[in-house]
Amino acid sequence: MKKQEKYNSVPVKPDEITPKHIYQNRRTFLKQMGVVGLGALLASCAPGVTSTPSTSETLSDITPSGIGSELENQLTSKEAIKGYNNYYEFTTNKERVAELAQDFVTEPWSVNVDGLVENPGTYSTEDLLSNFEQEQRIYRMRCVEAWSMVIPWVGFPLHKLLEEVKPTSEAKYVMFESALVPEQMDGANSGMFPFPYTEGLRLDEAMHDLTILATGIYDEPLAPQNGAPIRLVVPWKYGFKSIKSIIKISLVVDEPPTLWNIVAPQEYGFYANVNPNVDHPRWSQATERRIGESGRIDTLFMNGYAEEVMPLYEGLDLTENF
Ligand code: MTE
Repeated sequence: MKKQEKYNSVPVKPDEITPKHIYQNRRTFLKQMGVVGLGALLASCAPGVTSTPSTSETLSDITPSGIGSELENQLTSKEAIKGYNNYYEFTTNKERVAELAQDFVTEPWSVNVDGLVENPGTYSTEDLLSNFEQEQRIYRMRCVEAWSMVIPWVGFPLHKLLEEVKPTSEAKYVMFESALVPEQMDGANSGMFPFPYTEGLRLDEAMHDLTILATGIYDEPLAPQNGAPIRLVVPWKYGFKSIKSIIKISLVVDEPPTLWNIVAPQEYGFYANVNPNVDHPRWSQATERRIGESGRIDTLFMNGYAEEVMPLYEGLDLTENF
């Protein structure tokens, strides 16, 4: 059996998804706030839900945005999403990340938002879960290495956080930084990469509604190997832009340095928009291997999100700005 064949795609309907981590985290948050009972919070976050919660009511906590629902019969299995990962701070071996990251400590956690903003702040995971309504988004994820998945994320649009911190008129880019904890991350000690892992977006890309901060996958909080407790997801860009385990978000004037662009600028551009017409110097980007399926499928321009995102790139040469 070829390695990838063990990951069979198991279709799961969105209404079977119970976002446990959201109500569990809200419960913790409520306890901290001295509020008794979950109903009150549910009522404040999900209009129309006021009674004592049951499992089905917790489903009301997720806004059925419908974004990506056309992909629901193509979902990659939870086993594959959690078993085949890129997280170089732990290892370059995709099938060992889960094991090596299992003890990564992600609680307590906070994300610092600073730079060119009117309201800088520090957000705990609980703040992010309770301040921003969580919704499900089913997105294609296309790795620059020409494999792909379809992932049911739970999270919220990044623009909601940015609107709260209010970027100043000078802010043009958003820079993201991952946690770097060498004593818990074997691969971080290899000296092979200039960690911490950093990434960046133009401010208008960051403000686009498709750009989310993810807190869960299927019915679970993010596993360490997927970037717990909070990661970026930018579905029209190669997967390396979707930085994991974020500790810092900074609004800046200039295009920020990003790890892969520092390591190999001729191979990994700042934009990294999925483009089957622009090959990687060492391989074609025309097709991809969908994990859990046999054969290859055509890669879609902008990973299938061209209609939504092309207005961002009017007048930009996408071959030059790869
Ligand atoms: N973020 C950090 N901090 N470290 C990494 O090595 N790998 C990137 C991205 N985010 C990476 C990261 C790459 S190359 C990909 S394809 C995706 O995470 C993989 O996400 P997944 O393992 O959840 O599928």
